[in-house]
Amino acid sequence: MPSVLILNGPNLNLLGTRQPEVYGKTTLADINALCEAAAQRLGLTIVFEQSNHEGILIDLIHAAKGTHGAIILNAGALTHTSIALMDAIASVELPVVEVHLSNIHAREEFRHTSYIAPVALGQICGFGAKGYEMALDALSENIFKS
Ligand code: DQA
Repeated sequence: MPSVLILNGPNLNLLGTRQPEVYGKTTLADINALCEAAAQRLGLTIVFEQSNHEGILIDLIHAAKGTHGAIILNAGALTHTSIALMDAIASVELPVVEVHLSNIHAREEFRHTSYIAPVALGQICGFGAKGYEMALDALSENIFKS
């Protein structure tokens, strides 16, 4: 069964209480449950992780090579700053779907730049927690369909 690493970056552990007017009231545990249900429907295995530390996220991306067939990444604010995360993704050569709960292109100018986008298969943003399920659907259709 194909396996997908779902990786969440800084401050996403606070979902549910963090700026609910921007990110909604869905918690990260709710998103994990939603992803589990979608993965079952699609015949995929998922591993769901969150870290507030750039280096840990990089280590998890490195470890994904040979373990997972793809990555779904919400890198939080590191999306807009981290060349190191971009390099990690380019190094492992795994398909990555970039996800954001909010529409980063409709927000402050500094959120319009993504260092993940140039090395991602695609980007989904603005659809809240549903974006993670959309990313699993996209991987199932584009990467894992035989
Ligand atoms: C986010 C968007 C980022 O700009 C922000 O820093 C986050 C969350 C999102 O899911 O909408 O932490 O990645």
